[in-house]
Amino acid sequence: MKRLFALLLAVIALSGAYARERINFDKGWRFNLGGNMEMATAEYDDSRWRLLDLPHDWAIEGDFSADNKSGAGGGALPGGVAWYRKHFRVQDVCKYYLEFDGIYMNAVVFVNGEAVDYRPYGYSSFVVDITRYLRCTDNVIAVRVDNSDQPNSRWYSGCGIYRHVWLTKTDYVHVKHWGLHVETDAKTGKVKVEAQVSGKNYSVQYSMKDAAGREVAKGSGTQTVLHVNPATLKLWSPASPYIYKVSARVYNKGKMVDEFTTTTAFRDFRFDAKTGFWLNGKNMKLNGVCEHHDLGCLGAALNEDALHRKLLKLKAMGVNAIRSSHNPPAPELLNMCDTMGFIVMDESFDMWRRRKTQNDYARFFDKWHERDLTDMVLRDRNHPCILMWSIGNEVLEQWSSADADTLTLEQANLILNAGHDASTLAKDGEKSVNTLMAEHLADIIRRYDTTRPITAGCNEPSPGNHLFKGKALDIIGYNYHHEWIKDVPQNFPGRPFIMTESVSALQTNGYYRMPSDEVIIAPKDWRETYKDSTYMCSAYDNMHAPWSSTHEETWDVVKHTPYVGGQFIWTGFDYIGEPTPYGFPARSSYFGIIDLAGQPKDVYYMYQSEWTDKPVLYLFPHWNWQEGQEIDLWCYYNHADEVELFVNGKSQGVRRKTERTGELIKGTALNTPYHVGWRVKYEPGEVMVIARKNGQPTLNQVIRTAGAPHHIQLDIDYKGKELTFVQATVVDKDGNRCPMAENQLRFSANNGKIIATDNGCQTSMERFTSLNRKAFFGRCIAVVKGHGELTVSADGLAPNKIRF
Ligand code: GAL
Repeated sequence: MKRLFALLLAVIALSGAYARERINFDKGWRFNLGGNMEMATAEYDDSRWRLLDLPHDWAIEGDFSADNKSGAGGGALPGGVAWYRKHFRVQDVCKYYLEFDGIYMNAVVFVNGEAVDYRPYGYSSFVVDITRYLRCTDNVIAVRVDNSDQPNSRWYSGCGIYRHVWLTKTDYVHVKHWGLHVETDAKTGKVKVEAQVSGKNYSVQYSMKDAAGREVAKGSGTQTVLHVNPATLKLWSPASPYIYKVSARVYNKGKMVDEFTTTTAFRDFRFDAKTGFWLNGKNMKLNGVCEHHDLGCLGAALNEDALHRKLLKLKAMGVNAIRSSHNPPAPELLNMCDTMGFIVMDESFDMWRRRKTQNDYARFFDKWHERDLTDMVLRDRNHPCILMWSIGNEVLEQWSSADADTLTLEQANLILNAGHDASTLAKDGEKSVNTLMAEHLADIIRRYDTTRPITAGCNEPSPGNHLFKGKALDIIGYNYHHEWIKDVPQNFPGRPFIMTESVSALQTNGYYRMPSDEVIIAPKDWRETYKDSTYMCSAYDNMHAPWSSTHEETWDVVKHTPYVGGQFIWTGFDYIGEPTPYGFPARSSYFGIIDLAGQPKDVYYMYQSEWTDKPVLYLFPHWNWQEGQEIDLWCYYNHADEVELFVNGKSQGVRRKTERTGELIKGTALNTPYHVGWRVKYEPGEVMVIARKNGQPTLNQVIRTAGAPHHIQLDIDYKGKELTFVQATVVDKDGNRCPMAENQLRFSANNGKIIATDNGCQTSMERFTSLNRKAFFGRCIAVVKGHGELTVSADGLAPNKIRF
């Protein structure tokens, strides 16, 4: 059978012509948790296995447990080995490629029983040419996924084929996988194009089209330069992400046998050692966030709607840049960043040869880094959104030695941020193996792309850091250490600088610790364990990790230091795992500006007031306290000179943001350059703020004391193509959110399906797939699929329904 197929293939090679088809291959996989090698065979009977569609993450369906080897740092969810199998038939005689966007981890791919590929790194995309293994009858793909050696990650990785799978069919003569390379020059309008083609006797023609589909340039040859009139070209920026498309048509004996299209854009950018970041002639800051890949209660399983919702919320906050920490992201993230307008730092690794957790990628690094790094660049280099590559995050090779091999996961997360002895830095004139390694990695990137600068997330700020020596880094990147920034020009003369990672403030959405002008460093020293029976962190901007700062403290430095190109805040959204400063039962992070359920925390509005032009007036916290209790009220605002607070109609005074002193902000206060505040005695009723500009009221906001929980309010938070996110809020009879409500909510759907629920609570032990979830500070989110009606009920409350 195989020979027959090969023969037919030879015939097609002679006769042509099969047009490229890229088929989504996500549907109809069989899944089994656990298993043995028999499951690789073509004959194996999988008919009783669970039927599911990809992308899929089996860990997110599990229970949180202190016994799971991933640890709280990895999200306390299960790992293990699992098998996926899919049956299919092929009819056309052509080339067949199977593309996996990402499998976590240690994936072995079998086609009709034969092992055809293996990929250990869970974040690399890879392709398998399966043509010669196919039969004219039934075919079966089996994939063994092994995420049993844990911990292998400092955050939640997910388990399984968690990104899309594609079956690509092409003619024998075709553009190779990732084989079309486009480089634009915004100043001259020149577009370098190169198509790598498989096969013989071909010619290539290129066409470049603008966003309206009009051809703006054309050319031919495997490698050529297209010319777009520089006077007419439109530039790409986060504010105006204008996209072009380039297609390569391949001809064989006069017939068109392939057409491959890629997205591109024109943008002119540079990082300057004195003036920071410039895009299209405009000096601006990278107002960025770091993001892990999980999608909250949906786990690692990629979903375009959930991703789009995430990006919309970041956009509305004023974010213009994303760091894919600490690994190559899903291709869909990059597609959306291209079209929605986010600048991306594409990052390769969280570790090199020195491990951070017992079973992490360090064990594969020697053998695989070249391939993984190459593939990242080949896959991603056409994306206009990417303006920087990162060769790693806080790799232990920054120092001459580190004792990471003996650390637990929790210790590793803390020690990475602790100071290292000066004796571990590079000596004057020394070019260590670590420096050479950094150069080697940078050289791999430069082999395939010389248009973007290279950086690394470095938490050793001293010029003696081995990564700062040599020629590896075009941009010096600090993680934290904002207090060292004043010395950057002396320490790194002539070298551009950004904060590759910053802030790491700690907040639980809806929980407030007073007095708000006292900063809680948790723990005070990284060697201590921080304990608090609430397992919560304060949502005033007054709590952070020992290596980090409040949001305002770092933003003040970034905003007012011209040579800082920008920052990537740790993090935009909370993520599963790394629940610093706590251990289990905390199982997700406190670092996000937006909680795990996608609900903004209060500090979201500080950034919105600073990073957008949208008028902001945002008073918090809620107004349900003990009679007579002293309460701190904070308010973020912009486009106004002053704000006045009233408690039950009585003025509590007018406040203006304070002037900057120019000194590093240390701690916080009721009034700062970024917010105003009042300390008032609580009495039930209402609080109101009025903002004024030139004496005229511009905006106002009222918060009322909520009465007893009465009913559940339902609102559509986001409606996507497939998924809808419904916000459930426990409210009193007048519709005020009950900020202390913890009612056990029950979710059911008529038609459609409830996929997951979440309330943003870092210690909730309810499964994400559960149809019962407590409200957390009065709120909860349900993710539903398809169309139907969602009912939410709770004991003692009037239920509610909403169509989706
Ligand atoms: C950084 C690290 C991140 C995360 C963060 C928490 O050192 O790069 O991955 O662990 O600390 O503050």
